Order: sequence, then structure tokens, then C-alpha cells
Amino acid sequence: MSQSSEFCNALYQLSRSHNAANVELELNGVPVLVIQRHEDADRVLRANASNYRKNMAWFRQALGASRFSEDGAAWEIRRALTQHYFTRFDRQQTFALATQYAHAAVARLAAASAAGAATIDDAVLREMSVSVLVRSFLGVEFAQTGIDLGNLAQLMECGSEYSFVPPGRTSALYRETLARLPDLRRRVLQDFKRFRAPGAADSALLADMLAIDRDPANDVVLEHELLTFFAAGAETTAATMGWACYLLARYPAVQQQLRESLLAATQRDADWETLQRLQPLQRFISETLRLYPPTPIIARFANGPDVIGGRSIPAGQNILVSFIGIQHDARQRPDPWQLDLGQGGAGPGGGTAFSFGPRVCGGKHFALVELAAFLAVFLTQARFTLTSEAPPRYHWKAQMLREGGQPVHVGRAAARPAVDAASRVAGTAQAPAP
Ligand code: HEM
Repeated sequence: MSQSSEFCNALYQLSRSHNAANVELELNGVPVLVIQRHEDADRVLRANASNYRKNMAWFRQALGASRFSEDGAAWEIRRALTQHYFTRFDRQQTFALATQYAHAAVARLAAASAAGAATIDDAVLREMSVSVLVRSFLGVEFAQTGIDLGNLAQLMECGSEYSFVPPGRTSALYRETLARLPDLRRRVLQDFKRFRAPGAADSALLADMLAIDRDPANDVVLEHELLTFFAAGAETTAATMGWACYLLARYPAVQQQLRESLLAATQRDADWETLQRLQPLQRFISETLRLYPPTPIIARFANGPDVIGGRSIPAGQNILVSFIGIQHDARQRPDPWQLDLGQGGAGPGGGTAFSFGPRVCGGKHFALVELAAFLAVFLTQARFTLTSEAPPRYHWKAQMLREGGQPVHVGRAAARPAVDAASRVAGTAQAPAP
């Protein structure tokens, strides 16, 4: 078991042992304040955000400087480059694309289950979300890019591991991780280089990225932006869908209730707006993100002194905001470890899983349209049953996955036409009926 994965399990333990309390601990000899209270996270991420810079040296080292890792002017230039694309995307087209690729994913998952697989293959979910992302923003089929997602996933895993090894440590793990990084990084960068070729993709976003990359006045590198965009935009929704399948299988009555509400609501209209208005589905998405936030922690560093929840924070303090801790706060709900569709909550994942303040997730709206469309297809086209009652153990590789894969059998359900209609609206290809 790697150190980073153990840490994710430890975060769940902390949320129980020190519920609604911040905790000081040492990680590899480095003092860290783990924030588990929403009001204190609000101070760090929003109210006094300018005092807390991102603490992602490891991320920068493994994946290169990008919008995700930078602060100040270097971040602002990158945000201005991409955010308007992420905000003003064509929602109906995203819905139609997500519907199309979800059909293909369900077919693959069901075939694997029929052939005896006891767990869901994360790679199928990853390919489903990356396909929507790449078609939506880069205008090409992911399958035609030749990008090896396995390399990117390994790089993320290696980078996450590396983040738990402070400089100067010479453990075997450190040496092993460091030894793997350069080759992986070279392979991933080589993969993304193909987007420099003329005509590689018909995309305004890519054209803007290439133009800024060529401008010597700044240090934006196309490959770095693209690979973090792939990681931030595809791995997260794929991990969420894995946890959603697990919850559907674990709560069969909820699965049935969601299916029925979906069938009733989409009798006439299967479009993104209908799904956004469908409360049971929206609450289920929110609860999935609350119970299993795909980005379970984010790291910050105090530029100057501050006071958080009555505690003095010195300049240089390392901070980890634990979304696991914040979202399992027993002050908010009687049993925070249970799926609870009765509460509206304050938005997806209790309003926190996408973070908040100036560094809120850039793709939040895109992710929510996409997740609703994925789930609409999964619920109407498949049945989910648990293959193991064992409680989850967590595996962190920048996203939180389940160690060994989600123990879920995927069976086929009878076809239904209403959701398929979405694909016709935007004129995208139809997935074959089951
Ligand atoms: C369930 C899906 C997702 C979740 C839970 C999620 C969560 C997060 C979180 C917590 C952050 C803040 C990280 C930090 O401050 O260290 C973040 C940042 C970001 N996310 Fe997402 N994300 C999701 C999907 C997406 C998608 C689909 C895209 C792209 C289309 C995206 C693009 C970004 C970008 C660009 C940032 C950096 C924002 C900035 O600092 O300017 N995310 N995300």
C-alpha cells in the first residue's frame, strides 16, 4: 500500500475521530493543519484566499506549470485563456455527447460483467469522460488522438506519491518514484505534442492555447495545459461515476426510485434542462460527491500569519483542506456517513466538492451536465448489483478511486427510447440499441 493511498484512508478515519475539528499532524516530518470545518475552509479558500497560495510544487514538477498549479499573474493569464470556453459551452451538445459515450460504456461494462468481471474497470469510465471532454473542447474523437490514458494515469499516481515525500528524504519509495517520473513524463508530453501538428484538431480553445504558447512574453506550454486539462476534466468525472455505480448497487431501492423518476420526467423531453431540474437525480449526484469527493483534499501554504478558528497560523504553515472532513460534519446531518437523498444540501457535494472562492473548479457546470447525462443512461440502460459487501478502501492518485475497483456487476436493462432522443437533437451519432 502506498503512502498517498494510506493518507486517503486516514482522512476518513480523521473525519470520524475528530469530526468537525481541525487537526494538526506531521506528514513526513512536515507539520500540516488539516481543515475539517467548513467555516475555516471558507477563510482559507474564499474570505482570506489571497493569503493562501496553492501548494502544488509536486504537481508542477510532475506535470509542468499550468492553470491548476500556478498563482497570481501566471494563474490569471491561464484562467483568462480557458475559462470562457469552460463556462460558455453548448450544454445540449455536451448532454448529447455524454449520452452517446455513456451508451458505449454501459455496453462494455455489461459485457465485462457477463464475462465474469467482479469489478468495474475504471479505464472504461475514464475513456467515457475523456471522450466527451475532447469532443466538446477540442473537436476530435479521443480515439483518434493516439493518447495513452494509461500513461497519464500512471503519471498522476506517481506525482501523487511523490507529493508525500519531502525533499531530502531518500527512502526506497522516494527513489523508486523519482526514477519512474522522467520517463513517464517524457512519454506523456510526447503524446500531447501531436496537438501541435497543423490540423490536429478543429478547436478555438486549441488555437488560443497554441498562440499563447508561441508568445515569448509568457511561459505557457501547450502540453502542460492540455495534460492537466485532461487530468482535471476527465479523471474526476470518471471517478465520480465509479462511486455513483457503487452507491446505486449498495442502495437498490434508491436505484429503482431514481430510475422511475427519470423515466417519468423524460417521457417527453430528454434534454439537459430536464435533468438539471430533476431533484432526485440532482440530489443523488450531490450525495455521491459529498460521500466520495473525487478530489478529497487540496493543499495551500500560508503566505503570512492568520487566525483560523481561534488558532494562530504562522507564515509558512502547510494547510490541507479535507473535503472528506468538511462533507462528513455531523453538525450538518445526523448520520453523515449515510446516503441521504432527503436533504437538498447546499448544492453538489454540500456545495464544496468543486471547492469555492476564486479557485473554484473551472469545469463545474460542464461536469454537472455531463454527470446527469451519464447517470440518465446508466440508470435506464443497466442494473447495478454489489459483488462484495466489503467497505471501501481508498486509492488516491490525485483523484480518489476505490482500491481494486468498484465491486459492482452491471447487467443490461430493457432499452428505452426517451434519453436516446437527446443524441438526435444535437445530430451526433447514435449508439446502437442494446
Ligand atoms: C466531478 C467532477 C469534478 C470535481 C469534483 C472537480 C473538483 C475540483 C476542485 C476541488 C478544484 C480545486 C483544486 C484546488 O484548488 O487545488 C478544481 C479545479 C479545477 N477544475 Fe475541476 N473538478 C471536476 C471536473 C472538472 C472538469 C470536467 C473540468 C474541465 C472541463 C475541470 C476543470 C478544472 C480547472 C481548470 C480547475 C482549476 C481552477 C483554477 O484554479 O483556476 N474540473 N476542480
